Amino acid sequence: MKKSVEDLNVGGKKVLVRCDFNVPQNERGEITDDRRIREALKTIRYLMEHDARVILCSHLGRPKGEVNPTYSLKPVADRLSELLGVDVKMAEDVVGESAKTLAANLKDREVMLLENVRYDAREEKNDPDFSKELASLAELYVNDAFGTAHRAHSSTAGVADYLPSAVGYLIKKEIDVMGKALNNPERPFVAILGGKKVSDKISVIENLIDKVDSLIIGGGMSYTFFKAQGKEVGKSICELDKVDLAKELLAKAEEKGVRLVLPVDNVVVEEFSNDAPSKVVSSDNIEGDWQGVDVGPKTLELYAEVLKDAKTVVWNGPVGVFEFDNFAKGTNKVAEILANLEGATTIIGGGDSSAAVEKGGFADKMTHISTGGGASLEFLEGKVLPGIDCISEKE
Ligand code: 3PG
Repeated sequence: MKKSVEDLNVGGKKVLVRCDFNVPQNERGEITDDRRIREALKTIRYLMEHDARVILCSHLGRPKGEVNPTYSLKPVADRLSELLGVDVKMAEDVVGESAKTLAANLKDREVMLLENVRYDAREEKNDPDFSKELASLAELYVNDAFGTAHRAHSSTAGVADYLPSAVGYLIKKEIDVMGKALNNPERPFVAILGGKKVSDKISVIENLIDKVDSLIIGGGMSYTFFKAQGKEVGKSICELDKVDLAKELLAKAEEKGVRLVLPVDNVVVEEFSNDAPSKVVSSDNIEGDWQGVDVGPKTLELYAEVLKDAKTVVWNGPVGVFEFDNFAKGTNKVAEILANLEGATTIIGGGDSSAAVEKGGFADKMTHISTGGGASLEFLEGKVLPGIDCISEKE
């Protein structure tokens, strides 16, 4: 088991905390969803209450190793100050004079935030010199950036070579909840996987097929499975080079006794736009210039039937073209079905699924909404995440 923040003696110590403050912003630079910031508060508050000197760091966006004010973490410092009720001091750089001076003068219970670690090109290279420079600002390291735990970068992994380390409460919660679902789920265990491409989800399908009782497949990747079943898919998105793989996955599900649920009807359009006229057709009848953009009503009834007795549900990826409001209905309905399940552990991962849950006002009804997109997918694939692997084991 990994050391947690509670296993460190933090009083009076400078603690470097890697968070994932990679939050969405509008064109005015205002934060439009602060979930990742709120989820980091528990660790920060624990450190403050235990007299630590808290040095926060994160990336924001992909500034490609260059200083670019569009990706400044200043709005995050402001939001943190509001949420914590203290002044979070903002450094003007990452490991430069400003960061060093602020860190050196930090007092017990004070909190500061470094500028975007990706302003330094060495961060994403996991450069040991940069890791050392980050480490030299502090005496202890806590990684709480679950959303970035699949990246082996200096601030998420390399720095742990130079400081005593632990995971924060957020990472602990994410791995506890998702780890239990994967390794010791209450059954029936149902996974819902959506998204455009089979190629993005191959590893997760392969890993989950060994664990679930039912696997619901929706979204763009359904059409590759239809093709594998010998069906016509019209102009629907279809990865021809993955058709054989889809056949293998269908065969594997059958062999394992896993119920693999594909859409039985589909909303189809001739033109790929939100306002395109649409109709609902059976999965055997997608023809000519028509393409599938959402699951149909019979499919949603089928989903509700498969899910009604589920005790553990993992959902990752939209079942339709979520970016078009008119074709987000299936995805929104999945969120609603999950919200109304009684006595089930419901785990949501991925940006669109989480957005559907938030939009429907169902966030409080889910057991866990992962703060990781790519990271939660890699966790579900059964991969070792470098940001967790680098942390010391508990003695
Ligand atoms: C995310 O939003 O998935 C994480 O913050 C990781 O960001 P990245 O894909 O730019 O590494």
